[in-house]
Amino acid sequence: MLDEMLIFSSALFDEEEPWQSLPLDALASRFAHARLDWRRLASALRFDLASYHRGLLFRGVGHELLLASWLPGQASPIHDHGGSEGVTRILTGALEETRFERVDGCARPLCAHTVGPGSVLLERSDTLHQVRNAFHRPAVSLHLYRPPLAEMRIYPLFG
Ligand SMILES: [Fe+2]
Repeated sequence: MLDEMLIFSSALFDEEEPWQSLPLDALASRFAHARLDWRRLASALRFDLASYHRGLLFRGVGHELLLASWLPGQASPIHDHGGSEGVTRILTGALEETRFERVDGCARPLCAHTVGPGSVLLERSDTLHQVRNAFHRPAVSLHLYRPPLAEMRIYPLFG
């Protein structure tokens, strides 16, 4: 909890209703407005030429926090979240999210949209998506998952 307190302001942790039990939409709203300690976040920031990087900030029994660093052109695989749910907040740059539907064990694109600083993506337990830095400058995003991600199942593209 101490590590968390260093990262987030009271906006996420000090209100009467425990954030752990909030519906995902309400958690996303709180997550979007939490003040951040950039010095703590910097410890997990890493741009890697080989792949986007996910740096662990905190992992507890019920949740984990990750910081993702994206160079231009880097993308996640098409994935789900193995039963976890989460929220992703864009801190700098912009990311494109594509949502998919499951078809015969594959992923068929449904829609895509771009999100920038201050935006929050909801990742429900059944969300199937891909996130990409489709732009010309680096991007950084902060991810909160509950429970911690046990596995991200990867899906091939349909067709
Ligand atoms: Fe995801």
